[in-house]
Amino acid sequence: MPDELAKIAAEYGGEKGALIPVLQKVQGKFGYLSKEAISQIAKFSRMSESEVFGVASFYAQFYFSRRGQHTVKVCLGTACHVRGGERILDEVKRELDVESGGTTKDYKFSLERVACFGSCALAPVVVIDKDVHGRMTVAKAKEILSEY
Ligand code: FES
Repeated sequence: MPDELAKIAAEYGGEKGALIPVLQKVQGKFGYLSKEAISQIAKFSRMSESEVFGVASFYAQFYFSRRGQHTVKVCLGTACHVRGGERILDEVKRELDVESGGTTKDYKFSLERVACFGSCALAPVVVIDKDVHGRMTVAKAKEILSEY
């Protein structure tokens, strides 16, 4: 991992302003920002580890523990909530045996609840990776999950 990190850091020349793109690139490569990665990034960026962590933790896009291969996001915004989003979330939790914010033991899925995807006309909505699945039902959720 340090070699890969050094390559990424070299691309950005250790500039402070490049911290976000470096974090994005490292997360893109390893799936999350490990303690070791944060420590290396801090060195390359000439910042303290707590500064790097402070910046990264400000953004919801960064993760600090290993994620599942697929991310399942269940919308619980108003439109989705009214149309049964909670039941969909319960079914996904049961089906994957994982809580919201968690990752399955086999690291296949991570589960998140989201406030609104901006696709309210399709409510209730579940997004798996980049695939938007609208007008979700409990039965459909089960079927779609089995395809991943
Ligand atoms: S409330 Fe679910 S997409 Fe808007």
